[in-house]
Amino acid sequence: MSEDMFSLKGKVALVTGASGAIGQEISVSLARAGADIIAMGRNMDRLRKTAEMVKKHKRDSAIISGDISKMEDVERISRESFTHFGRVDILVNNAGTNVFKKAEDFTEGDFNLIVNTNLKGSFFLSRLIAVGMRKNNAGNIIFITSQLGKTAMNFACLYGATKAALMQITRSLAFEWAKYNIRVNSVSPGPWSTGMLEPAFKNGKTKEALIRMTPTRRLGEEGDIGGAIVFLASDASRHITGQDLIVDGGFSISRIA
Ligand SMILES: NC(=O)c1ccc[n+]([C@@H]2O[C@H](COP(=O)([O-])OP(=O)(O)OC[C@H]3O[C@@H](n4cnc5c(N)ncnc54)[C@H](OP(=O)(O)O)[C@@H]3O)[C@@H](O)[C@H]2O)c1
Repeated sequence: MSEDMFSLKGKVALVTGASGAIGQEISVSLARAGADIIAMGRNMDRLRKTAEMVKKHKRDSAIISGDISKMEDVERISRESFTHFGRVDILVNNAGTNVFKKAEDFTEGDFNLIVNTNLKGSFFLSRLIAVGMRKNNAGNIIFITSQLGKTAMNFACLYGATKAALMQITRSLAFEWAKYNIRVNSVSPGPWSTGMLEPAFKNGKTKEALIRMTPTRRLGEEGDIGGAIVFLASDASRHITGQDLIVDGGFSISRIA
């Protein structure tokens, strides 16, 4: 084990959804711990911003644009990832989406969008990246899931279903791939103040209620998740696999609204 058990020096991390709020923090935190970053997403301006932030920590970065819900893109993302640095040691499956509707209003198109983005893309990308990890007999995969994979809330029926499925995929892959020295864990954020939740905050009351239901009396914000990711990606957690780490200010233990 390295002298600094949280060090990621010499590692390469692929972060999907690195253009989003949480993905950007994850990328920068991994870079601060010493990893070079492959930032993947669709919004090139925001991906470039992430790459700039990584460079401030004197780490190298590459950008890959793609739609994780499309199989042809998933295959290309995997290929290009190995081309950039010759290896991928850490994969953070962070790209995700939601369509805020009641269960009875979802269309088949909504279903396909949510399932293909959150579940299918992450699963197949993990499988492809794991092929390279197996060659090095080492790897680390983290899925960003959600508290909504464990509890019910309005407008999150399909979103929650995909996140619950990712938690089970985490356990299954951890079980199957331990023999290749690949650890697989997930991180479940509680409600976060990012663009993703904006549609749910339109009436003003939802945000207030979520804050009231959180013992720390605030939503997750920048600086709250990077430490958990570095912990799971590093030797500090080397005997932990198949687990879900909740990062939610106590939201999941609270019953007071
Ligand atoms: N915000 C919350 O309260 C909360 C709570 C629990 C869990 N989470 C999870 O945390 C993760 C990050 O969410 P966030 O809050 O940072 O939301 P966000 O700012 O909306 O970011 C979402 C990210 O996912 C990417 N993405 C979405 N669809 C994609 C696709 N088809 N192909 C490639 N990339 C795609 C977006 O890329 P582009 O913008 O480039 O398209 C963006 O980088 C998600 O998995 C989300 O489910 C969020």
